[in-house]
Amino acid sequence: MNTGTQDFLPLLGTDFVEFYVGNAKQAAHYYKTAFGYEGLAYSGPETGDREKVSYVLKQDKVRLILTTALHPDHPIAQHTNFHGDGVKTIALTVNDARDAFHQTTSRGAKSFMEPKEMSDEHGTVVMSGIHIYGDTVHLFVERKNYNGIFLPGFRELKSEYNPASVGLKYIDHCVGNVGWNEMNPWVKFYEDVMGFKNILTFDDKQISTEYSALMSKVMSNGNGYVKFPINEPAKGKKKSQVEEYLDFYGGPGVQHIAIATDNIMDTVIKLRSRGVEFLQVPGTYYDDLAKRVGPIEEDIDMLRPLGILVDRDDEGYLLQIFTKPVEDRPTIFYEIIQRRGAKSFGAGNFKALFEALEREQGLRGNL
Ligand code: FE2
Repeated sequence: MNTGTQDFLPLLGTDFVEFYVGNAKQAAHYYKTAFGYEGLAYSGPETGDREKVSYVLKQDKVRLILTTALHPDHPIAQHTNFHGDGVKTIALTVNDARDAFHQTTSRGAKSFMEPKEMSDEHGTVVMSGIHIYGDTVHLFVERKNYNGIFLPGFRELKSEYNPASVGLKYIDHCVGNVGWNEMNPWVKFYEDVMGFKNILTFDDKQISTEYSALMSKVMSNGNGYVKFPINEPAKGKKKSQVEEYLDFYGGPGVQHIAIATDNIMDTVIKLRSRGVEFLQVPGTYYDDLAKRVGPIEEDIDMLRPLGILVDRDDEGYLLQIFTKPVEDRPTIFYEIIQRRGAKSFGAGNFKALFEALEREQGLRGNL
């Protein structure tokens, strides 16, 4: 995806995703038990932070931080009160956090954190940050001169309770929901301010059911390591799923995080056995699947009971499945994805998926 011009914001990948939550201790237990994460690092009063606690979890290359404020007037407590549990930060690893800050703010990004150096006996990390949609931010993390377990200020998180991994490997993409007529301005933000390219576009004709619709554009950075689809609601006979999200999150935010596995059947069997709930498409989805996607390595009769979906593009195929929201509010959910050549996002599954989603929306009385 090299365009020949120099990438002014070279990204090495997703560094971590930070959630602001109501109870980080319990959220950490959930992510370990249900999704197979392991404890990595911790900060809180015991490490000298009297304002908040953070649990850092990891699974292969995926790192999550779960953070809770210790006092009701803390901005993190207000964030959680307003949005419910949700993603505050999508952190990106860079070689030069000062330059990343300069490049983006000089192109119009609003500063969230001026470049800040943090050191301990393991070295130095430089971080900076900018605002994106809603109350969400990007942090730029420069850790090339650091060899500690996570970041200065954190200690190792050890536990006797260590459920096995479910095979999650890395973050494939993070999707943002923005408001009416806000998709294109955010597309332009990622183009102008971050040097991303629009690699795929879905209009409301492609992403609609009989009742509701949305539009989506996929933004990718220069090396393709970081992909951010941006959704906005579109008009239908009933309420768009994006609108339901905006109502309950209180504005734009991260809708889903797609995490890659290289054995989706094994991963989904494990997730289901640990209580993770998935959207269920009708059994008829599988009746014409072989005809629609052609030969695949997996046995369709085994995909069917697991609810795993398949789609094909010019370069190969992919398998994917979506969880139900993992919060009480119908906001953030996860996608589990296995790519077998395909670089797309499963457009062939949108209709079946959105019909499944609308059934859930209907049950919540939000359609
Ligand atoms: Fe996705």
